[in-house]
Amino acid sequence: MQITVNVNGADYSRDVEARLLLIHFLRDDLGLTGSHWGCDTSNCGACVVWLDDTPVKSCTVLAAMADGRRVRTVEGLAAAGQLDPIQQGFAECHGLQCGFCTPGMMMTSRWLLDRSPDPSPEEIREALSGQICRCTGYENIVRSVLWASKHPDGRVDTAGDAVEDAE
Ligand code: FES
Ligand code: FES
Repeated sequence: MQITVNVNGADYSRDVEARLLLIHFLRDDLGLTGSHWGCDTSNCGACVVWLDDTPVKSCTVLAAMADGRRVRTVEGLAAAGQLDPIQQGFAECHGLQCGFCTPGMMMTSRWLLDRSPDPSPEEIREALSGQICRCTGYENIVRSVLWASKHPDGRVDTAGDAVEDAE
């Protein structure tokens, strides 16, 4: 079937099988491999992307269900050569080790901060409760999100040069 999905602001039209999952559409058809496929049980959350404005596990969504809709992936976080504060927070606070869970963690965290700019650690843990990290013990992930909440304008450019915090 023919579908057109807007991914990170660009329209992509493809002929896909009706059974194709969104995670495979993103990774295999579009080459957007930032979103990870980590389980067969819908438990890990490494595949989280936004469908319209809601985080979803893209292994539970058919590509056909995204037809005519907007998808935002981790590749869409940085803008105009600037990392999103949530990306900088993970870097500043060592919010990752292997990094496999990180794209999904960042997408849910960004969603949370857009709705709750100053979340408590408990709110962050609740928001991320559907996602699994095998490495960090979660402490530094929570610190990373808190850092981003305290530095909404803090960022570094993608070449790694520090940018003055606007605060
Ligand atoms: S790949 Fe594990 S929840 Fe989607
Ligand atoms: S950093 Fe390895 S799974 Fe989270």
